Amino acid sequence: MERFSIVTGDITQSDAEAIVNAANTSLLGGRGVDGAIHKAAGPKLLAECLTLNGCETGQAKITGGYRLRARYVLHTPGPVWQGGSMGEPALLASCYRSCLTLAAERGIRTVDFPSISTGIYGYPLPQAAVVALKAIMDFLEAHDLPERVRMVCHTEETARIYRQTWNLWYAEDKSSKL
Ligand code: APR
Repeated sequence: MERFSIVTGDITQSDAEAIVNAANTSLLGGRGVDGAIHKAAGPKLLAECLTLNGCETGQAKITGGYRLRARYVLHTPGPVWQGGSMGEPALLASCYRSCLTLAAERGIRTVDFPSISTGIYGYPLPQAAVVALKAIMDFLEAHDLPERVRMVCHTEETARIYRQTWNLWYAEDKSSKL
């Protein structure tokens, strides 16, 4: 499906209308992609986040993008990996669904995701990729917006796992392999 693609890069440089931040429930910034987004967006992002009173795991809240190229930031706290039997898959799927729902409600046409929870939160990449791709593809099948969604992988290894998972589950034929 051309509406979805897997790329490598730095999500803070993205030209998408909205980028997703793998946040924590305080929404007050952190390390990883959260730290990079806050650094690139500047202090006004934190000032707006302070007005949001945090965000529950699996939910999403929207702010402006400030100094980022992206007009909006969709903040979503992913689940911390605890072995997989504490509801992590459902919470991770909810992160993707909540961000896409918010984007569609706001008429946002392009959304870039990082690989939520697979860094500091320790979610194993192969399992996260299956959950993320299913949540994204199911949403795009059922909605016209966003028009374009990308998974922006910070490393080639991350991209390789997502592409491998995509090809296993979604590539109709050789030509559509990513
Ligand atoms: N662009 C794209 N992806 C990035 C970037 C970037 N600039 N920086 C990091 N990543 C990738 C990581 O390589 C990983 O694949 O984002 C993915 C998510 O990793 P984390 O940022 O560690 O996020 P997460 O695992 O969800 O942990 C969230 O970390 O930064 C804190 O405040 C945050 O407490 C929260 C926790």
